[in-house]
Amino acid sequence: MTSCAAPANVISTLAVDVRAALEDDDESLCVLRHHRELPSTAAPLVHQVGQRILIILRALRQSQHYRLVFFHAREDSTFRAMDTTPAFPSLLVVRHPLIQHKLTILRDRSTPTKIFKELVDEIAMLMAYEATSELSLEETSVETPLERGTGWRVSGKKLTLVPILRAGLGMVEGVLRLVPGARVGHIGLYRDHDTLEPVDYYFKIPGDVSEREFLILDPMLATGGSAAAAVTSLKRAGASRIRFLCIVAAPEGVRRLAATHPDVMIYCASLDRELNAQGYILPGLGDAGDRLFGTR
Ligand code: PRP
Ligand code: URA
Repeated sequence: MTSCAAPANVISTLAVDVRAALEDDDESLCVLRHHRELPSTAAPLVHQVGQRILIILRALRQSQHYRLVFFHAREDSTFRAMDTTPAFPSLLVVRHPLIQHKLTILRDRSTPTKIFKELVDEIAMLMAYEATSELSLEETSVETPLERGTGWRVSGKKLTLVPILRAGLGMVEGVLRLVPGARVGHIGLYRDHDTLEPVDYYFKIPGDVSEREFLILDPMLATGGSAAAAVTSLKRAGASRIRFLCIVAAPEGVRRLAATHPDVMIYCASLDRELNAQGYILPGLGDAGDRLFGTR
């Protein structure tokens, strides 16, 4: 076990719980979420990757900075390229170099529709790799050409993608390339130009809602009105395990979504500076729907 800068008593109590959690995959998040030393907001900062658990906690609630405590079973663990910020504990910024490279081309005003569409698709696929990193696995057997062996397959809840129309559609195929078995629901929302509040016009998701994990897709999280309304609609339909995957987020949007639905993890490629008076993200990439579908 390696650790940095967290008080020994916190680490040792956590270590006991982590050991117990490792013995029962299904219990792990639950145990950590209810740990009395952890602020409840730290729950989204707990990640389990295979046999390893990465915990980011604010020790004793007084520190200005989050501390990293890295528990692992072997010494060959690596950190992944994801960042959180104390201001937005339910936000994960995926800083993989390929994503950042593609995002810069996406922002460029001279990027044509065809390339824009391809980039949204590729970024969505790369980000989905992170957003699915906590799917639980179950052991299975596999017959190789040489012998019977042991393998793993994704277990439990069925994944459902829910693009917010229109721009979320551009992310669907990229995610499906990684998770071809996922179902796809749709939520139709547009922002009223004057109030910037979402107006809903369509809602269709697969049945057996309570057995599903939902991944909402929308490239832009601006005021957060559309995202919050989409989550509210899904919850009203019975969904409880929901994540939100976007490409560019504004602090205003993250704040609103986190305040309305603190249980929803938000993944983005960039947390931009601010919104302008018209509700566009700065520096942003413009109107994602128009650039995707050439309706500018
Ligand atoms: C865009 C975007 C989001 C929404 C974000 O859609 O795709 O859905 O704005 O803004 P918010 O966070 O302030 O709600 P838009 O309303 O332009 O509809 P469109 O995709 O049909 O163009
Ligand atoms: N919707 C977009 O498409 N872009 C923004 O910057 C804000 C909302």
